[in-house]
Amino acid sequence: SFSSYSSASSSLQPLWADDEYADVNWDELGFSVVPTDYMYVMKCARDDTFSSGRLNPYGNIELNPSSGVLNYGQVTSDHSMFIPVRLIHSSTLICTNLLLRTVQQGVFEGLKAYRKLDGCGFMLFRPVENATRMQMGADRMCMPSPSADQFIDAVKETVLANRRWVPPQGKGSLYIRPLLIGSGTVLGLAPAPEYTFLVYAAPVGNYFKAREGMEPINLVVEDEVHRATPGGTGGVKTITNYAPVLKAQLLAKHNGFTDILYVDPVKKKYLEEASSSNIFIIKGNVISTPATQGTILAGITRRSIIEIARDSGYMVEERLVAIEDLIDADEVFCTGTAVVVSPVGSVTYHGQRFEYRTGAETVSQRLYKSLTDIQMGLAEDTKGWTVEV
Ligand code: COI
Repeated sequence: SFSSYSSASSSLQPLWADDEYADVNWDELGFSVVPTDYMYVMKCARDDTFSSGRLNPYGNIELNPSSGVLNYGQVTSDHSMFIPVRLIHSSTLICTNLLLRTVQQGVFEGLKAYRKLDGCGFMLFRPVENATRMQMGADRMCMPSPSADQFIDAVKETVLANRRWVPPQGKGSLYIRPLLIGSGTVLGLAPAPEYTFLVYAAPVGNYFKAREGMEPINLVVEDEVHRATPGGTGGVKTITNYAPVLKAQLLAKHNGFTDILYVDPVKKKYLEEASSSNIFIIKGNVISTPATQGTILAGITRRSIIEIARDSGYMVEERLVAIEDLIDADEVFCTGTAVVVSPVGSVTYHGQRFEYRTGAETVSQRLYKSLTDIQMGLAEDTKGWTVEV
């Protein structure tokens, strides 16, 4: 109820009367910014710990032009920096990227709240995992981070304060975006002296918009531009793992593909992940996904699908997955908080298009249903993954 967060924000007045729902066309939800009512803000000095935060009305934030995140938080999206131009020693590449990638001070998370079936309250999916991942990412980027309890409390407060933006059951979810940035000022290269933890939220439907439910996506393998490199930060959810792929992604979209599938930058042979999701292939009863060894984000949906698939009798392998394995697969799908489980209809590699089984009777469809039934409270949560708000 409103009173459950008003203690932390006693000066806040509700922005609405008693509306159960915001004025949204729930059938038209995609994955885009919808300004909601409140965001959570908590600040902390470097070498200190986060103590208390508060809900503020959702809106712009003020940043000094010298703030760490603006100056060193985002590398250029000029892809020439990330394209290994026929390197003689792979260590040259590693050094180049280390240099670029150790200065980024911004990490984020993504999780979803679903409205419960009975309409009373909401459900979060594995928020402890998000909290822990943010802590690991913050440590890599030399930033202090909120404790797991602080993280989860902030997420819960944000959900409750924006409760009228949580879509009706079956229409989508409230996507919650926790963000941790170096907000203090620096001129020379160094960790910022102050950090801001923010949580905002927006109602979302399908990530790949204009696509109905489980409509398959079409990927293209990219082996010149790389998302991450050994020794870099591909395994943590830092903001600048994302900007470097935009140019390649736009080109792929221009050429009619939904997204890109990246391969390892050294041998250009093994699958890594797509721009915003992990990748799985299925051959017979065996489901394989690239092992996360520093360059691949350890997705929470990825981990959950591995567990659900094993429980359902599939053999799941986390290993090096070669392009030949992909070409030979029966089914391919992507996982992520935003994309959930997205079946892949085709992958194009060096101009050749390979097609995969999709539709109602597929393994990815069954896994999608098992996962989302737990997330939405339609199936019993025997694993303790869901957290009520
Ligand atoms: C998510 O799936 O939650 C992400 O953070 C990926 C983002 C590119 C939408």
